Amino acid sequence: MKNEKMLHKISQGMYVLSTQKAACFVDAVSQVGGGDHPLISVAVMKKNYTNEVMHNTTHFAISIFGKNNDGSIIQTFGFQSSRDVDKFKDVESIEINGVQIPADLVGYMYLEKIDTIENDTHTIFIGKVIEAEQFKEDEAMTYQYYQEHKEEVLKLKTESGKTAWVCQVCGYVYYGEELPDDYECPVCTVGKSYFVKQTK
Ligand SMILES: Cc1cc2nc3c(=O)[nH]c(=O)nc-3n(C[C@H](O)[C@H](O)[C@H](O)COP(=O)(O)O)c2cc1C
Repeated sequence: MKNEKMLHKISQGMYVLSTQKAACFVDAVSQVGGGDHPLISVAVMKKNYTNEVMHNTTHFAISIFGKNNDGSIIQTFGFQSSRDVDKFKDVESIEINGVQIPADLVGYMYLEKIDTIENDTHTIFIGKVIEAEQFKEDEAMTYQYYQEHKEEVLKLKTESGKTAWVCQVCGYVYYGEELPDDYECPVCTVGKSYFVKQTK
C-alpha cells in the first residue's frame, strides 16, 4: 500500500480556486514558469464541478489560505460542491470579470487560462498571472501543516454519541456504525482504509 503521508510532505500550499460560478479548495498548485507573467498550474479532479466550469471559462483566480484564516473556508470550498450550493453566499468577496475572490484570505492571483493537460483523474490547468494582490500579512499555510493539525484547523468536533469515521487525507467526516467496504471519500476519493473510526 502506498503511504499517503509521503504525499503530504510535498511542500504545497492551501488555496481557493475560483472561476465564474464555481470554486473549490485545492492544494495541487505549482509555479511552472517565470518572467513578467509567471505560469501557474492547478490540478483539478475531473469529478469536481469546478473542473467542468474551468473548461468553459477563460480566467480563474487562486487565493492563498493563511495560517490565521478560519478553517470554515476549507469546509465551505472543499467539502461541498458548487453544483449544490453557492459557496460565496456567506463569504465576503471581490469580483474581477465575474470571477469571485474571497476577500479574507492572504491575497490572490488572477490568471488567464492558456493550456490544459488531461490525465485519468485530473485536468491540469495552466494560467498566466495577469494580476496579484495581497489583502493581509499572514504566513501561508502549507499542506503538511494542515495534515498535521487538521483537527485544530477544522475545529473538528465530531458529534458526541455518534460513531464518526474521519478521512485522514482531507478531514471529511462520515457518520455511521460501519463504513461500507467500497466506500470512497466524496471529497478526495480515497478508500475505506484511509478512514479512522472515532467513538465519543
Ligand atoms: C485540504 C484540501 C485539499 C484539496 N485539494 C484538491 C486539489 O488539489 N484538487 C482538487 O481537484 N480537489 C481538491 N480538494 C477537493 C475539492 O475541494 C472538493 O472535491 C470540492 O468539494 C469540489 O467542489 P466543486 O464540485 O464545487 O468543484 C481538496 C479538498 C481539501 C479539503
